[in-house]
Amino acid sequence: MKPDFTRKLLQWNKDSNTRSMPWKGEKNPYRIWLSEIILQQTRVEQGLAYYQKFIETFPTIQHLADAPEKEVFKCWEGLGYYTRCKNLIATAKKVAYELNGVFPSTYESIKELKGIGPYTAAAIASFAFNEPKAVVDGNVQRVLSRYFGISTPIDTTTGKKLYQELAQALIDTDQPAAYNQAIMDFGAVICKPQSPLCAICVQNQDCEAFKHDLVKQLPVKEKT
Ligand code: ADE
Repeated sequence: MKPDFTRKLLQWNKDSNTRSMPWKGEKNPYRIWLSEIILQQTRVEQGLAYYQKFIETFPTIQHLADAPEKEVFKCWEGLGYYTRCKNLIATAKKVAYELNGVFPSTYESIKELKGIGPYTAAAIASFAFNEPKAVVDGNVQRVLSRYFGISTPIDTTTGKKLYQELAQALIDTDQPAAYNQAIMDFGAVICKPQSPLCAICVQNQDCEAFKHDLVKQLPVKEKT
């Protein structure tokens, strides 16, 4: 039995999710990895052009690994957080030269790569390899905190663990890629940080925050 939350989220995704982004439905782990690294500290609107430029300039992970580092940094220019770019290069070389050009295909092995944490590993494992690992980012935490009325701060050890476990319990194991993309899109277009669209939300009858007028108060952050 799927939880109501999961069922309605996927129903919304099928009927009403019109959000379109070039990496949606992408199965190539290299492209997914690239998009997720770019989006880590960059808004989607700004990240789009960089993503396009990267895959044009470096169509495969082998191209990225073989490129002079100066060229890679030039493509990254303007995105900031240059550690991301350094790790990108290191991981490309690792995959190209030590792993025979084959991107690791399990959550645990992906998480070993430089610059890839639990969030990015879950995104690649689920989108590219259908592994049922829930992605948990700020979007996901906000959606879950409101729907379940959870006031545990999201930026604490306890909170992070709680949201990770809750998200993992809710993922649709038959379609993890669709589920993970749907919850991120839902957080971005319906359950937005400011002015969420509660009036048209398919989950509003079951949403604890909506029912108790706590939408503006959730999620809670310990440090502001
Ligand atoms: N932000 C980070 N990754 C994303 C994705 N796959 N879809 C939408 N927003 C995102």
